[in-house]
Amino acid sequence: MGLFSFINKNKSLPQQIKSNYTVDIHSHVIPHIDDGAISTEESNQMIGFMMQNGIRKIIATPHISLDFPKNTSERITSHFERFKAKLLKAAIDIGVDVAAEYMIDDGFRTLFEKGDLLTFGNKFLLVELSGFSQHPDFSALLFELQSSGYHIVLAHPERYTFFHDDLPAYKALKDREVFFQMNLLSLTDIYSSEVNKAAKWLIENQMVDFIGSDMHHQSQFAFYKKAFAGKLFEKLTRTNAIKNNDFLD
Ligand SMILES: [Fe+2]
Repeated sequence: MGLFSFINKNKSLPQQIKSNYTVDIHSHVIPHIDDGAISTEESNQMIGFMMQNGIRKIIATPHISLDFPKNTSERITSHFERFKAKLLKAAIDIGVDVAAEYMIDDGFRTLFEKGDLLTFGNKFLLVELSGFSQHPDFSALLFELQSSGYHIVLAHPERYTFFHDDLPAYKALKDREVFFQMNLLSLTDIYSSEVNKAAKWLIENQMVDFIGSDMHHQSQFAFYKKAFAGKLFEKLTRTNAIKNNDFLD
C-alpha cells in the first residue's frame, strides 16, 4: 500500500492536512540564546510537540539583531552543535538545521557587507522588520542582497502594522521576488484581529510561500492546536504554493 492511499484512509492523521508542511523554517527552540526556549527540557517539549504535529525537520532561527547583541554567527553555531548533541543523546529523531532571524536594523548592513549571514538551503535568508516601521535602508538592502544571490524570506509579513493599510506594498514585495513566511499563530487572532485579517488577505491572494511556527515557548501549544485545527490552515496549505518541504533534505 502506497503512502498516499494509507493517508487517505486515515483522515484524522495530522499529516493529511499538513503534508506540505513537514519542515518548520522559523523557530526559537535552541535554549538559552534568545527570547525562546529557556531550558533543554522546554526545548525538548517544543520539539516533541512539533513532531506530534507532523514536523520532520526544524530549521532553528535564533534572533540576530541589536536587541540581542551577544548573538553572533559563531555563538549561534556553537549553541546549535550542543543542542544537536543533546537531541542525539535523548534519541529525539528529528532533522535539525540552523540559520537565524535577522532584524533589518542599523546593525544588519555591517553583517551583510562582512558576508557574515547564516542561511538555509541555497542562500535563503530569513529577515524580519520592526513591527511599526520599515527601516529606510530595507529597499536598497533587498536589491543588494538579491544581487549577491540571497533569496529573501520575509518573516510574518502579516504582522507589520504599516502594511495593513497598504496592501499594494505586499504585491510590490512579491514582484521583487521576496518570499513570504506566514506564522501559524497568525491564523488565530492571538496577535490581533488586524494581523489575522492580513493573514486571510495574503492567503486569499495566494501570496504565502512558507509556513513557520515562530515557536518560542511551550506555553503557546494550545494556540498552535487551535491554528492547526482551523479552516484557515486547511485553506493555506491547500491553496497556496507552500514550499517548506523543499528543505527536507
Ligand atoms: Fe521569530
